[in-house]
Amino acid sequence: MLSVRQIQKIFNQGTINEKSALSSLSLELAAGDFVTVIGSNGAGKSTLLNSVAGDFPVDRGQIFIEGEEITYLPQHKRAAWIGRVFQDPMQGTAASMTIEENLVMALRRGSRRRLRRAITHKEREYFRAELCKLGLGLEGRLTNKVSLLSGGQRQALTLLMATLREPKLLLLDEHTAALDPKTAAKVLDLTCQVAEDQRLTTLMITHNLDQALGMGNRTIMMHEGRIILDLQERERANMTIPGLLEMFEKAGGANMLTDRMILV
Ligand SMILES: Nc1ncnc2c1ncn2[C@@H]1O[C@H](COP(=O)(O)OP(=O)(O)OP(=O)(O)O)[C@@H](O)[C@H]1O
Ligand SMILES: [Mg+2]
Repeated sequence: MLSVRQIQKIFNQGTINEKSALSSLSLELAAGDFVTVIGSNGAGKSTLLNSVAGDFPVDRGQIFIEGEEITYLPQHKRAAWIGRVFQDPMQGTAASMTIEENLVMALRRGSRRRLRRAITHKEREYFRAELCKLGLGLEGRLTNKVSLLSGGQRQALTLLMATLREPKLLLLDEHTAALDPKTAAKVLDLTCQVAEDQRLTTLMITHNLDQALGMGNRTIMMHEGRIILDLQERERANMTIPGLLEMFEKAGGANMLTDRMILV
């Protein structure tokens, strides 16, 4: 489904700030894989997701979605296939627009008519039904500005927008890290639900090791721009958080405990 082949990304190449973020990294995801991504700060997790989304070109290597090469495709062309939710609740939605205007943008993404056509009754009913599934009472607030929503409500709305058109790939970059634990749990529940309903292929970065082992079907650990551990099936089912920390230390990542890694 997603095939990342030996990609390399060096930021500020040839300058004093040169930083190698991805070193010949390869990753193959099967359709429906839900992969959690862990690793210390600066390991290259976000750079991996951003490379797949096309935020910048990679220096070397190739990226394929369903066998089609997207390495040189601009970000806006990939956007039709990729849903994204970021850590910052302000990033995924347009605050000055209403909930229904945000949703219609997501629904008509890639269509030429976009916002020129008024929102139809049918679309509004569809939005209400989808918002109802979030269980946050947003179905009665279609014409509210998004700036009025809480961080958790915005993340849930962003998740809905990212998956409204059933993307081929869902990229989540610490999308619950800025939320309080209860709201984070709700958004994670919604994430599991939509991933399962649509059988989405998902990459989810998290610093929470409990989430990393408890969600999805596969966990990869990154360190210094490489994947140093890829846990699947029985090996993953038998893995514990202390076991994960031990493997990390063995791989040379002694600073695992000194950064934002959350253990439970
Ligand atoms: N746009 C950029 N310009 C320059 N350097 C960058 C850029 N983006 C990332 N880097 C550097 O590349 C390395 C990998 O960064 P990345 O953001 O991918 O790490 P991460 O694993 O997501 O870390 P975190 O857990 O802190 O989010 C870091 O050293 C970072 O400083
Ligand atoms: Mg990051």
